Amino acid sequence: MTDLGSRDRESSGAVFVAKAEELAHGQSLVFELMVDDLRQTGFVLRHGDRLLAYVNRCPHWNVDLDFGDGRMYDERIDRIYCRNHGATFVPQTGLCDFGPCVGSRLQLLDVVVDRDGLWVLGDTAQSPERQASPEHEAPPDSSRR
Ligand code: FES
Repeated sequence: MTDLGSRDRESSGAVFVAKAEELAHGQSLVFELMVDDLRQTGFVLRHGDRLLAYVNRCPHWNVDLDFGDGRMYDERIDRIYCRNHGATFVPQTGLCDFGPCVGSRLQLLDVVVDRDGLWVLGDTAQSPERQASPEHEAPPDSSRR
C-alpha cells in the first residue's frame, strides 16, 4: 500500500483537521471542503475511539445541522441531530432513525490518519487507504501531541 504525503493529500483536495484526534467523546470540529463541486462544511465527530466525518447537510432540507455553532451530537440520546426539525442520525452510519427524513443518511466522508493527524477527503481526493467501513479508528498514538 502506497502512502500519500501531506502535500499530495492537499493537492488532491483533502482537508487537514487540526487537533481532531484530541476531541473528547461527543465533541466535533467543523471544516470546509469541496463536495459535489461545491464548497461545503463538514464535521468530524469523536464517538468513542472513532473519528467520523460527515458533510454538514441535513438530507431533509439540505441545510446545516447545527445553526453554525458546531453542536451536532446529543449524548443523552447518543445521536447526531438536526437543530432545524429534530431529525436524529446514528453516529456510526449517519442513518436517520427519527424525524422527517427517516431512512436517509448523512453523507459520510472518508478520513485518513497519518503521522500529521486527521485528513478528510473531499470527493476529488484519492485514498489508497480507503476503507469499506464507515468507521475509522483514531490512531493508537493520538496522545502524543
Ligand atoms: S432540515 Fe434537518 S430535520 Fe429538517
